[in-house]
Amino acid sequence: MSHFSRRNGQLYIDNIALADLAIQHGTPAYVYSKEAISEQFLAYQQAMGEQPQLICYAVKANCSLAILNVLAKLGAGFDIVSGGELERVLAAGGQPQRIVFSGVGKSHDEITLALKTGIHCFNVESTAELERIQDIAQGLDIVAPISIRVNPDVDAGTHPYISTGLKENKFGIDIDSVSAVYQRAAALSHLAIKGVDCHIGSQLTEIAPFIDAMDRVLLLIDHLAEKGITIEHLDLGGGLGVRYQDEQPPAIGDYIHAIRQRLGTRDLRLILEPGRSIVANAGVLLTRVEYLKNAGDKNFAIVDAAMNDMLRPALYEAWLDIETVSENKQANTAIYDIVGPVCETGDFLGKQRSLAIGEGDLLCIHSAGAYGMSMSSNYNSRPRAVEIMVDDSKAHLIKARETNADLMRGESLLPDPC
Ligand code: LLP
Repeated sequence: MSHFSRRNGQLYIDNIALADLAIQHGTPAYVYSKEAISEQFLAYQQAMGEQPQLICYAVKANCSLAILNVLAKLGAGFDIVSGGELERVLAAGGQPQRIVFSGVGKSHDEITLALKTGIHCFNVESTAELERIQDIAQGLDIVAPISIRVNPDVDAGTHPYISTGLKENKFGIDIDSVSAVYQRAAALSHLAIKGVDCHIGSQLTEIAPFIDAMDRVLLLIDHLAEKGITIEHLDLGGGLGVRYQDEQPPAIGDYIHAIRQRLGTRDLRLILEPGRSIVANAGVLLTRVEYLKNAGDKNFAIVDAAMNDMLRPALYEAWLDIETVSENKQANTAIYDIVGPVCETGDFLGKQRSLAIGEGDLLCIHSAGAYGMSMSSNYNSRPRAVEIMVDDSKAHLIKARETNADLMRGESLLPDPC
């Protein structure tokens, strides 16, 4: 269900006019619909039916405490990639036993923290990491639950920067040589083998690559069983795509249905790590037009949000829908490049968009809930945006706008020479 509607020329999120939020909290502002987030998560859970499962929301997509808390209350698990994400999940009420820890570069301190916290599983990405976890676990006298991330060598058919399941990527261990690594893990004193995991990429719009990867992993699980290694869970990672423009990704229910069919009656708990498909279309970025500028045959709308607030167009040439928040009947329609104030030619949010706008108007950048705020930075010493969560007709400030003082915290000048 869409959570955005236009009433009397005004754009609404659920039952709140976006213009009111921009006036109250200023721009740039990220605004999320609590209901939209919940609906997406519940779609995963419901489609699982009786299947033993754990849906671990990929925190990197959007790590706002309020979002993590909404999901924790619905019973979500979490896929984390750093000690910082672990602390956030705990602060938001997430349960340690529902956390899986992914990532190619887990530090000594992060592994220690996760072991002491008692997480569900480490998704191990290399033999060196396996040995490190064993050493730390032995030192703490804790048994570390592990899964090995395999690289199934399938082409996810997505943007090269977000495709991860090919042999040439840095992720996981080659599926053809992983059996020996499992046997090594089985021989180590402080490791407990729990599962196998893979993640082949992000923004996938077809089911087939997921099923290809799954088939390869199931063969591996059978092979490991012959070697006396029992696998309790299969973690298929995240990656289900969303509609930004005219993509037609499978519905969550269809995707889960296909996976469950392939799983058949196998006694395996299914773990998924969806990020984007839970939050992308539940959030927007509001920005105000500072200036309109004409440069020969090109029009620019210079807005107060920039690549530091939303990096996806600059980094991946991602297309995000942009529309006016309040209809402007006085303005003529023209074609604009929507650009930010940052001193980079790559600082754009949209190109060649047909809009009827004037200076001071508000724009809504859609599908901004995933990898928007979480990839933001302070480039050009720009404080990061405010975040708001709408719960039907109530709006809650969930993160105050950063101040310039926040940005300078912890810095110091060199002492004067004496
Ligand atoms: N699990 C692992 C191990 C991952 O690396 C990722 C994403 C996910 C789960 C969640 O994938 P999702 O369901 O969100 O597709 N910044 C990029 C996306 C990078 C994704 C990285 N890994 C973007 O803005 O498109």
